[in-house]
Parts: sequence; structure tokens; C-alpha cells
Amino acid sequence: MCGIIGYTGKRNAKDVILSGLFSLEYRGYDSAGMAVVSEGKTVTVKTAGKVKMLENAANSLNLCGSIGIGHTRWATHGAPTFENAHPHTQGRVTLVHNGIIENYAKIKTALEKEGYRFSSETDTEVAAALIDSRLSAEGDPLKAIGSATEKMRGSFAFAMIIEGFPNVIFAARRDSPLIIGTGEEEAFIASDITAILKYTRNYLIPESGDIARVTSDGISVFDSDLLPVAREKKVSVWDTESAEKGGYPHFMLKEINEEPTAIKNVISGRIKNGVPDFSGDGENIVARLASTDRIFTVACGTAMHAGLFGKYITEKLARRPCECELASEFRYKNPIVGKDDAVIVISQSGETADSLAALRLAKEKGAFTLGIVNVAASSIAREADNVIYTRAGPEIAVASTKAFTVQATVMTLLSVAIALESGKIDAETAKRITSELSYELPEAIKILAGDDGHIKKIAAEISKSENAFFIGRGIDRYAAEEGSLKLKEISYIHSEAYAAGELKHGTLSLIGEGVPVIASACDRALYEKTKAGLSEAKARGAMTVFVSPADICTEKDGDFVIALPCISEYIAAISAVTAYQLLAYHTAVMRKTDVDMPKNLAKSVTVE
Ligand code: M6R
Repeated sequence: MCGIIGYTGKRNAKDVILSGLFSLEYRGYDSAGMAVVSEGKTVTVKTAGKVKMLENAANSLNLCGSIGIGHTRWATHGAPTFENAHPHTQGRVTLVHNGIIENYAKIKTALEKEGYRFSSETDTEVAAALIDSRLSAEGDPLKAIGSATEKMRGSFAFAMIIEGFPNVIFAARRDSPLIIGTGEEEAFIASDITAILKYTRNYLIPESGDIARVTSDGISVFDSDLLPVAREKKVSVWDTESAEKGGYPHFMLKEINEEPTAIKNVISGRIKNGVPDFSGDGENIVARLASTDRIFTVACGTAMHAGLFGKYITEKLARRPCECELASEFRYKNPIVGKDDAVIVISQSGETADSLAALRLAKEKGAFTLGIVNVAASSIAREADNVIYTRAGPEIAVASTKAFTVQATVMTLLSVAIALESGKIDAETAKRITSELSYELPEAIKILAGDDGHIKKIAAEISKSENAFFIGRGIDRYAAEEGSLKLKEISYIHSEAYAAGELKHGTLSLIGEGVPVIASACDRALYEKTKAGLSEAKARGAMTVFVSPADICTEKDGDFVIALPCISEYIAAISAVTAYQLLAYHTAVMRKTDVDMPKNLAKSVTVE
């Protein structure tokens, strides 16, 4: 969490930093700040609240320097106050930080004995003081950063300005994401590429443990022994437009509307003779998955729900044992996993701390690991044995939408490939599902996203409630999980998801007059059963919404019905989630919440 940026070159650093921070704001928006070297002096401006407030504050000053660093914060240590906003200065060091220094309290006590005094509650200010203290002892900034970071436990991406080195930004990373962008006589440091796409698509990624010295003339990267190292130069395939709203009122709505294209992109090049073909993603991925003892899908939040889809379809279609685990649990439960198993880690950002830790653990235990990742060259993408990129383009809204759709599409395609490889389905069935994914699904989502008011009308009803329930059976149970998460995440309506058969085992006591109960039935074999569950809620006064393929549902199935314009179970279930995303979106807009940046959250959860 937190976004960091740095700039050195000929442009006005304040403007570059502000533009970068606006792009990074999805990573955290509790407070923001920047430090610019202006007329030989380091000037720091910070505010509690969003980047817009920082922009107002910075514009009231005459900041004309061309080197500086900036930060947008998701609070970990200390409340989201002005005092705790970054950058933090101690002695000659002014620093911004993304990550957590776990042993900061112990370091702080030692530094206090040296005479350092602290004005914030943050671990970052302690890091700045430690580097300053090491600088006094070592004299050389690289050595100081090296020996200070050696004493730190935890994760960090630092960008810093050091008095006495007016043309340099120093950077260091361990685990937290950090890229260095290169341009004509200018250089950038950022948490991710979207922050600098306006200026350059060229970048490199320092490895965990690297320290970098960045000037407008060039970039030098050093490993943890301070030996110079060359890191591969990369060119981003994303462009500025893909990271902007493009006329939509919110990123979330734009990203839902991008789902049909994203599905086509993720499938493109992964079909041969009408059936899935992952050979372009690495040798024998499917054969390996088909021959393992067990498959695990491991992820967090929405990505975990895509993992549940994967589990369900793999078991149903390929008849292979597949477990879906929350990464935060998997990493600490000493999982029974070994060299005969496969672990699929699903992550939009590729940087989620728990998912990355789960991946490392799976590798340590000898499992075959596969990342399903959106962000190119992110940590999970680089560390997994193989990676399947989901090619959704940047997802900016904190609520994940198109990332889920493509993750679920990949999981379905993979399950079909495994089922075919293990002889559990014939080529005709594989071709049918592949074709439904390629053509029917994008079309169905286009129709849903173009909805002219029906979903809004339902949202208007839901927006009056403080509680809601999503139910489903089979794959619909997992669609319910994602629908419920989306609604609570952005509308702040308390919502829960249940297997449809479970309501009567306790939850019905919560159903009363007007409480929304939303059910989907994409698996037609379970349609009647799910409808019965919804009727039980209706009998207790619930306001019911029924979602199912257009050819089986009738107007009488609920107070409101969303007819999905597609037929087959798996495809319909993915599109049901799109319907839920739209329902959540319109509900949140009606409740006037901050749709793209819901309170207390951040897009990229790089702390555990
Ligand atoms: O980047 P990741 O896919 O690893 O992120 C995992 C979750 O943090 C994420 O899906 C989160 O649940 C979404 N913001 C929910 O909309």
C-alpha cells in the first residue's frame, strides 16, 4: 500500500509528482505529501486527506525545483494525520516509504539514545533517522542506506533526497514494489508504471535488496553488497489512455465496460483448433496441472473468488481435486503441499503480500507454481515457475471488476484444458465452452453493461437498506461471494453471502421487511432449489432479486429479475458477477460514496 514517486530532470518536479500521485492514489489516500529541492533548499508540503488537498497546498507555494519525491499514504503505523504524512525528514535525509519496518520500535529506542527526536508515530521517520545516523558514521550515502536497511526487518520501497547530494534521488527496495523510469535526460521512481506513463514507457525493476542512485544523466543500481548490477530494461505495453477515465464518471464503470475487450485479449493466442492452448505461456503447463496430485488456487479478496470459480470448474469438469485457499491462511497453516502438487496464485497486482508469501512457501515445499497475474513483471509474475498474464490493462478503481472477469475466464479455460488433457471431456465439449467464453461471454457482458436503467432501478431499492444478502448454489455460491464483497466494499451496506441452502440454518432470523436478498441460478440443474431458497426469504418479507439465464427465468422469480443474456452455467456465472458489479456500482453512486476510493481501503495490499 502507499504510493511513492520521485522525479529528476528538466520539468517542474511538483507537477510531475502531483500527476504521479493522482495516478497512485488508488494505493492509499489517507494523506499525501511531497518534498522538492527548490532553489537549493528541500521544501516539504504535506496534508492529511487526498492528493487534491496536497495539490491546493503545493500550488500556493512557489515550488520551482526539478527534483523531488512524493507519497500518498495508506496508514499502517499511526493515524492518518498531518504529522504522520510522508515525507519524513531526519537530519540530512528526507524520505518516502511504502512498506512496514517491523522492528522500528527497537530501532527507535536506540536512536533516541543517540539523541534523535521524533515528531510522528511512523516507522518511516525511524527509517529516515537510521539512514541519517549511518550517514554520519559512513560518510557515503550508498553505504549508509546499505547498512541501515540491513538492520531493518520487514518490507520497504524508499525514495529519498539527501542533503549534500542535490541532483540525486536514492531508492531502495525489499519486497515492496518499485520501478525506475527512464526518459531523455530525466528519470522517475514510482510504485508502478501508471504513475509515469504520461512521460515514459521505459523502465527497469530493481530486484529485492537493490539500492539505486538516480540522476537525470543515468541510473546506477547496486545489489545488497553494493556491487553494480544491470537490471533488464523493459517497455510497458500500457499507454496513458488506458490509465485515464476516458469520459466515464468513475474508473469502476470504465473498467466494467472494458470487460468484453479484456476477455478477448486474455483469450487471444490461447486457442488452437478451437480448444485452449497455453503453450505460449510455458512448456507443459496443462500437462503438469493434469498430472499433479492436487491443485490449489491461492489468493486474496476478489482474486480468491476467481480461485473459487477455478476450484469448482476444475473439480466438476476435470474431476481433479482442487482446493481454494485464502493466501493469508495458507501461509501460516503449514499446508499439506509438496512436489506432486500445483499451486496457482491469482493476483491482479502481482504484489499482494499474503499471496506472494503463499507463493514462496509453495515453492519452498517443492510444488509447481503458476501465477495468474495482470501486472507485468510484478513480484508474483517473476517468482512463479510460470505465469499466465491476464492482459486486462491497468485496473485503477479499488473495487476489482475486469480483473475478476479475466481471472475467472482464465480459470475456466485452464479447467477445460486440464479436463481435455485428462480425457474427462471430449474435444467437442472443450470447443463448445471455449467458443462460449470467446464470443458469448463478451457479448453478454456488453449487453449487461449497456443496461438502460433496469439495474439502476434495482440499485435504487437496495440503496435504501443497511443490510443485504447474496445467495446461490454450486458456482452461484461463489458469484454470491463476489457480489456481496463488491456491494459492501463500495456502498458500505453490510452484506453477506450464503450457500442458498444455508439460510434456514440461522440466517433467516435476520431477514425482515424489505431486506434485499439477491440470488443467482446459472446452474440450471439447481434453478428450482435456489428459487425455493429465495421464496423462503420472500415469505419473511425480503425484497428479492433473481439473476439467471434469460431462457429459464420468468418475471415471477423475484421482485426484480435480471435475465442474463447467456445460457451455459460457467459463462452465465461470470456474467452474473458483472451484473453484481453494476448493481454495487449504481448503489454506491446513489449513496454518494467515493466509488473509486472507498474508505479505509487501498488497491494494492502490500502489507500482511
Ligand atoms: O492485487 P490482488 O488481486 O492480489 O488483490 C487482492 C485483493 O486485495 C483484491 O482483489 C480486493 O479484494 C479487491 N479490491 C476487491 O474489490
